[in-house]
Amino acid sequence: MLNDPILVNDWHPVTTVRELEETNLVAARLLGEDLVLWRVDGQTLAWQDLCIHRGTRLSLGRVDGDELECPYHGWTYDTTGKCVSIPAHPEQIPPRKAVVKTYLAQERYGLVWVSLGEPEHDVPPFPEWDDPAYRNVICGPYGPFEASAPRAVENFLDVAHVPFVHGGILGDRDHADIPEYEVSVGQEGIETSVISIYQPDPYGTGSGETVTYTYRVYRPLTAYLDKLSKDGTRFSIFFTVTPHEETQSTVWMHYGLNEKYTISTEELRAFNDSIIYADMPIIKSQRPELLPLDLQAELHLRSDRTAIAYRRWLNELGLTIGTS
Ligand code: FES
Ligand SMILES: [Fe+2]
Repeated sequence: MLNDPILVNDWHPVTTVRELEETNLVAARLLGEDLVLWRVDGQTLAWQDLCIHRGTRLSLGRVDGDELECPYHGWTYDTTGKCVSIPAHPEQIPPRKAVVKTYLAQERYGLVWVSLGEPEHDVPPFPEWDDPAYRNVICGPYGPFEASAPRAVENFLDVAHVPFVHGGILGDRDHADIPEYEVSVGQEGIETSVISIYQPDPYGTGSGETVTYTYRVYRPLTAYLDKLSKDGTRFSIFFTVTPHEETQSTVWMHYGLNEKYTISTEELRAFNDSIIYADMPIIKSQRPELLPLDLQAELHLRSDRTAIAYRRWLNELGLTIGTS
């Protein structure tokens, strides 16, 4: 397991509830740790993906009632991770040490979240998920791809790239100037003031307008965007990144759309895919791969103030993985 107390003691999404429901046995990788996820009676379980007999992946095994059976010699484990049966020695009580390493797991916003340690914070809020005034759309997942998770989060917070990477859609190179805005850092993370941006085609309908963005960063790898148009069209994006390895990540994006936003779910997914697929090669190309927290290491201008606050905050928290 990668050694980063901040990320180890936090929640991270590793798969969707839907995938777990469909397959009932999912392998995932989080912070350099192989996990097996399974479900029994509505209980979500996340274990180290390793049979303690010969180190076989339990995710290759099968769920039998409320037990998980290793594919190699059929040792079976109960929901607490304890081995309860060794078929080669049916008369023998399994040794007390025959216990799989277990982790905390919970389901929120259609995702399965795992903590490898003892989380001090809950999964960050996404109020539109349970609000009947909003339609929820799960986009992605995007990845795994080769980039550090903080680089991916910083890209989501970066407004100055929009006229170039998403020119003609979310930005316009003839309107590339970024207006003044404020950023505050507190107990709950980072929050920006309202940022006005001209967008040539913000909703895929072909007409341009000035919209406002407000960002929040709740946890090192979870952020939120509130986007509002003059006509009252509003949506929010819950953005979170899974750090599989220090430089391998998956991005998850959930939308909450109010009734004014009439785009179909399929169209929105396709639209969001095209946006992210434009960002990915940029993020993958960035060097150093690890986000430099020393503000002397790269150049920062006024328009980068969310990134400056993000790097400072990560540095104060003591984040090490994905940063340098
Ligand atoms: S390796 Fe799992 S039962 Fe032998
Ligand atoms: Fe982008």
